[in-house]
Amino acid sequence: MKEILEKLKSEAIEKIENATQINQLEEVRIRMLGKKGALTEMLRSMGKLSAEERPLVGKSVNEVKVLIEKELSDKKQMLEEKALMDRLGSESIDITLPGKKPESGTLHPITKTTLEIQEIFASIGFSVAEGPEIDFAKYNFDYLNTPENHPSRGMNDTFYISEDVLLRTQTSPVQIRTMLQNKPPIKIISPGKVYRKDEIDATHSPLFNQMEGLIVDKGITMSDLKGSLEYFARSLFGKDTKTKFRHHQFYFTEPGAEMDATCPKCGGKGCRVCSNTGWIEILGCGMVHPRVQSMCGIDPEEYSGFAFGLGLCLWHGH
Ligand code: DAH
Repeated sequence: MKEILEKLKSEAIEKIENATQINQLEEVRIRMLGKKGALTEMLRSMGKLSAEERPLVGKSVNEVKVLIEKELSDKKQMLEEKALMDRLGSESIDITLPGKKPESGTLHPITKTTLEIQEIFASIGFSVAEGPEIDFAKYNFDYLNTPENHPSRGMNDTFYISEDVLLRTQTSPVQIRTMLQNKPPIKIISPGKVYRKDEIDATHSPLFNQMEGLIVDKGITMSDLKGSLEYFARSLFGKDTKTKFRHHQFYFTEPGAEMDATCPKCGGKGCRVCSNTGWIEILGCGMVHPRVQSMCGIDPEEYSGFAFGLGLCLWHGH
């Protein structure tokens, strides 16, 4: 009996030592200590032993049982720790991996166009002036020589905040603000948002972007206007671009004109973009009206100037 017990004990301990996985320990436990395990059987068969032998054998079997249980739980703890270490090792973060690059946005097409046009005018000495989108009616209309009864002044066309204050319908009030605050020479452009009560369709929106331009100095003539604006059109659309000026009345210019450029899409042959005319309207312009200059305190006898306003849309293919 003692020999068998010794054998079982060393066998179990060897198996426990060699075990590399927790389920191998479980096997040992079942085989030794389970309901039908070897030690359990031994305890059960003790009935056959003599009364003197029984407590001695019982004691040894129990000792072996306790020993095996301890070995099993020690080894189990060891294997669990090892498994944890392995997992931590394999799941560790590789800080040498390159990070994920956040996707970056791009500039809005209107912004790109604005910057491009600003650069063109900067190259011939214009600087950028800013004006408010909420402005006084007097700067948006009165100082611009707009007749008292002109329809654009009405509630149907213009967003009024109060009787005297509105969302500007054009960037032209920046001309007025600039002339009121500065003595010539003046040479500015002014991009920005403008507002009109228009329903949205393919070519209208209650909010759109314009760029104003103003130059006032001694001896400015219509040929300065034409030269500057032709230079602008060729810089923006390409050197083969042609321009033409058609008379158009604006209350704040005398004379006034609209400038067309050959369509940048088809080069003037005619296409969908230019409605088969070969031309697209680019801007309104003119010589600053003497009355406007006077209202702003700039003597029209001494100084003259030209102005223009262009609608910023996406015509040049951005
Ligand atoms: N403000 C005009 C508009 O919104 C555009 C314009 C025309 C501006 C002629 C000017 C100009 O400075 O001289 O339709």
